Amino acid sequence: MSADQRQGAAPLPAASAQQRAAPAPVANAQQRAAMLRVDQAGEYGATRIYAGQLAVMGQRSGEARAIARMAAQEAHHRAIFDEMIARRGVRPTALQPVWKVAGFALGAATALIGPKAAMACTAAIETEIDRHYGEQLGQLGDTDPELSAVIGEFRAEEVEHRDAALAAGAEQAPAYALLSGAIRLGCRIAIGLSRHI
Ligand SMILES: [Fe+2]
Ligand SMILES: [Fe+2]
Repeated sequence: MSADQRQGAAPLPAASAQQRAAPAPVANAQQRAAMLRVDQAGEYGATRIYAGQLAVMGQRSGEARAIARMAAQEAHHRAIFDEMIARRGVRPTALQPVWKVAGFALGAATALIGPKAAMACTAAIETEIDRHYGEQLGQLGDTDPELSAVIGEFRAEEVEHRDAALAAGAEQAPAYALLSGAIRLGCRIAIGLSRHI
């Protein structure tokens, strides 16, 4: 092998390493609109879940106070996404009336089982939302700094909700694995539907 060939071959591994490190194809405008749609729907759903839980639990127990604090943050998340979809002209999900009823029902049902089941619901939902927001941040790359900043901030708060719910005994809920698995599956289905419908 000549010196020229060696020099010519040398840059190849570096170039392919660079290609491997390059971010995956990033979200286009239509995909970013779908992200905003699903996120607005999700935060709306979260406010409805907590409304259902608080309707059953009242406001006085320690758990209810913790839930009310999380609910206030969800209302803030929702308000920010409401403003963003309006400003950007993104169509909200047509499934909003479904999430209104389903969210409230899920919240009320878990609270009726008991406070630990209510916490198991939060832990399950926030586990999925953490995964979902993390996925979106990866897809966004640096295409939409405003949306990335909002998602990053909310994601941190959702993780706090998950940890607070686990600390409050979520895993001691009756049939925790079953309950958690069912809620996580429902959450994934709702995310998939709200993206497109
Ligand atoms: Fe939220
Ligand atoms: Fe949350």
